[in-house]
Amino acid sequence: MELPEEMDVSGHGHGTSHPGGTTSCADLKEPTTTAPVKKFHLTAKAETLKLENGKTLDAWTYNGTTPGPEIRVQQGDRVVVTLENENIQAGVTIHWHGVILPCSQDGVPGITQDAVKPGEAFTYQFIAKQAGSFWYHSHQQSSIQARKGLIGRLIVETKKKDWDYDKDYAVTLHNLDGHPLIDQKKDLYLKAEPGEKVRLRIVNARNTTQKLAVAGIPYQVISIDGNDIHGPSPVKNQLIPVGAGQRYDILFQIPENGQVKLVTLDGEEQNTSTTITLGDGREVGKITDLDRQPEFDFTRYGTPTHDGVSLPSKFDRVYTLTLDWSWPDQFTINDKVMHHNQPLMVKKGDWVKLRLVNEGGGTHPMHLHGHVFQVLTKNGKPLKSSIYMDTLPVDVNETYEIAFRADNPGLWMLHCHNLIHARLGMGMMLNYE
Ligand code: C2O
Ligand code: CU
Repeated sequence: MELPEEMDVSGHGHGTSHPGGTTSCADLKEPTTTAPVKKFHLTAKAETLKLENGKTLDAWTYNGTTPGPEIRVQQGDRVVVTLENENIQAGVTIHWHGVILPCSQDGVPGITQDAVKPGEAFTYQFIAKQAGSFWYHSHQQSSIQARKGLIGRLIVETKKKDWDYDKDYAVTLHNLDGHPLIDQKKDLYLKAEPGEKVRLRIVNARNTTQKLAVAGIPYQVISIDGNDIHGPSPVKNQLIPVGAGQRYDILFQIPENGQVKLVTLDGEEQNTSTTITLGDGREVGKITDLDRQPEFDFTRYGTPTHDGVSLPSKFDRVYTLTLDWSWPDQFTINDKVMHHNQPLMVKKGDWVKLRLVNEGGGTHPMHLHGHVFQVLTKNGKPLKSSIYMDTLPVDVNETYEIAFRADNPGLWMLHCHNLIHARLGMGMMLNYE
């Protein structure tokens, strides 16, 4: 069932003011600096794509492909991206998922900018302060536009090599009009030689958690949502649970006599739809008992503290957010859909704690714009070590506590990254007073 457009909380489009929004954040911009400038041009346009199986699909693309061009920059660069809309009638934007940037560059139509209409353009500018794997997507009617193809990767490299690898690959798990694909393919092949060490950056642009099984070899999870894991131990036969919107970077070595194969298992549909193969094609090891493999447990790991900032002894604001579903088709936070929820109000410098309680409706991958948060507890148990994310999948009956410092003034969305849930109401604003 298609819902009326007003229900699409992930994009209002016409510069209408959001009920939660008190001010616009148009003048919160990156200051001028001497950072090296990297320029890109992305044109949003409709395109007919031909898949390997000969099928053709009508897609919406940035520069003719989905995912759009991979943007690769160095940490510290000033990224300048001009978005032009050729012919997407509803208008488009670009949201830089996971990137800490000034509010005016966040790409949320009706809140931080107007949607870019056909024939118009908008230039985004931000300093890539964080290294790691990120992605971008249209935030105008995002449940439709991301599924139609308006997505891409943003990779921020560090100057000094952080991990030891020979190949650096990035892949995007996505859906194109309901067809699960990885970089437009059902089965993706990446070239790698025996003995080579590979860093594989996995971006999940689908709406549900994707669990990846790795056949035959041990691997290390070295980064989650662009935050490096501290001293990751190698694991074997554990599923990599990449929540919707999340990124997991893994590191492994191609065996001397064969290949590495990854199979995606959809967290909700339980179907194995897409694969990634690296190496020379000779099989080593089979994936057995796929759905009985344990999952990689991020709560046992830690990421070094962000900017050396450690938690306060007391939080300035504490909010409990109950995530739920109600008949027939509403996804709610504290029993309200997005446009009925009052924004969470904070002051610059506040330490904020959010308690996320999932009471139903499936997994809710909760994403906060413009900030990185620390996961404090899972089901009441404190985590061993600090770990940071920008998107956290919360399963049914789970409770997490997360914390962040309100140090990036503006108007920010907090929403479920199952974009269907967001469209049906699961979102709210975080506003600075
Ligand atoms: Cu990747 Cu508000 O979204
Ligand atoms: Cu959800």
